[in-house]
Amino acid sequence: DLRDIPHDGAFDATWSLLREGYEFIPNRCSRLGSDIFRTRLMLRQAVCLQGPDAARFIYESPGLTRRGSMPQTTLRLLQDKGSVQQLDGEAHRHRKGLFIGLLMEPDTVATLEAIFREEWIGRLPEWERREWVSLFDEANLILTRSVCRWAGVPMSDDRFATAALTRMVEYAGHMRPATLSSLWQRRRMEGHVRRCIEQVRKGDLCMGHSLPLRRIADFRDFSGAPLEPDIAAVETINILRPVVAVGRYIAFAALLLHRHPEWHQRFRDGDEKMLEGFAEEVRRISPFFPFVGARAVEEVEWRGYRFPSGQWFLLDLYGTLSDGRFFPRSEDFRPERAISWRDQDCTFIPQGAGSAPTTHRCPGEMITVGLIRQAVRLLCRSMDYNVPRQDLEVRMNRIPALPESGFTISGIKARR
Ligand code: HEM
Repeated sequence: DLRDIPHDGAFDATWSLLREGYEFIPNRCSRLGSDIFRTRLMLRQAVCLQGPDAARFIYESPGLTRRGSMPQTTLRLLQDKGSVQQLDGEAHRHRKGLFIGLLMEPDTVATLEAIFREEWIGRLPEWERREWVSLFDEANLILTRSVCRWAGVPMSDDRFATAALTRMVEYAGHMRPATLSSLWQRRRMEGHVRRCIEQVRKGDLCMGHSLPLRRIADFRDFSGAPLEPDIAAVETINILRPVVAVGRYIAFAALLLHRHPEWHQRFRDGDEKMLEGFAEEVRRISPFFPFVGARAVEEVEWRGYRFPSGQWFLLDLYGTLSDGRFFPRSEDFRPERAISWRDQDCTFIPQGAGSAPTTHRCPGEMITVGLIRQAVRLLCRSMDYNVPRQDLEVRMNRIPALPESGFTISGIKARR
């Protein structure tokens, strides 16, 4: 019975969620001594869960959907209607194949990394001229330029594109005036990308068959028909936006290099072997995606509890990653931990759980880890810089989190 599930005691916990942010679910799980509890958020009954068993349930149960599991503005700014994340079953698996083919292929990922490296190096002379730069802002600009080049999306105004793509993530967790202007910017970008798709299909915009924009334009959906232009634009943005979002992990990686100078020195001395472990530990320890939502479309069961159709669930990603039962001495930053997206498991889940081709697990982990690794290498080996005094606090009630200053660096010199 649902009434046997521990309850957090609140009439509605929305304010507590805003106040506690990433710690909302972990705080209650530890207070109640349970991996599951009931609460009410935005006046809606919710069941919150944490840990690998719960992740397996949320990612592998056929009776769950992502539809109706997020507030409208969050959905519109992130995945959007009609996107792969809103599909289930066979239709989902078929569309997901497009992303797996584009994003989990070593050669195409290596191409993106090479472009990223080139754009970063190309930016160094400008940084040398400036007294200081915000690494977060600069990483976002570099990532925007890189992903648009890589995907084959012409972008005449890359400042606008950077702002629009960054804000889709920045304001997804809130309802503020900035959320509305971000939605408007998104609409503008969708219009631009939709016109590009139409031009590709008409042959007015020529590009190689392997470029992502071309592959999305040519893709046939489960029904056998090409994607509607609007949907093709949404899916293209589902590649552009999250690549730019890696800028947040890059700011965290720089913060962790600053806090652990022994690693900075190691990479500067040429250690290549631990770069990936470092990038993975950045993803484990940095608060980014707090939790994912799901909704039951039929009766489902977990650990003997039966949930009715319509039940809303929140799975705690961040709390699972900072749980000492699964990650011993979880507060310590230890790149030696053997954790990797390659395992496709239900414990190390910064970007979702299970197997990417068949569940809603993120197909972009190979790219994310590749770009963080590349950024760490560039920071340590291709430049010298100082970290001036600034507010580096990471506030846990700001979703998505970021070092407060955006990580400012100064006195930049390229190493030649
Ligand atoms: C799905 C996080 C980077 C594309 C997801 C999910 C999470 C996530 C948690 C699962 C959502 C769910 O279960 O409902 C992140 C984070 C990233 C990142 C924190 C760091 C920047 C990327 C990249 C790409 C990407 C680089 C593509 C280039 C997608 C897509 C889905 C997804 C298309 C939907 C998958 C599906 O529903 O089957 N991401 N992601 N993400 N991600 Fe990522």
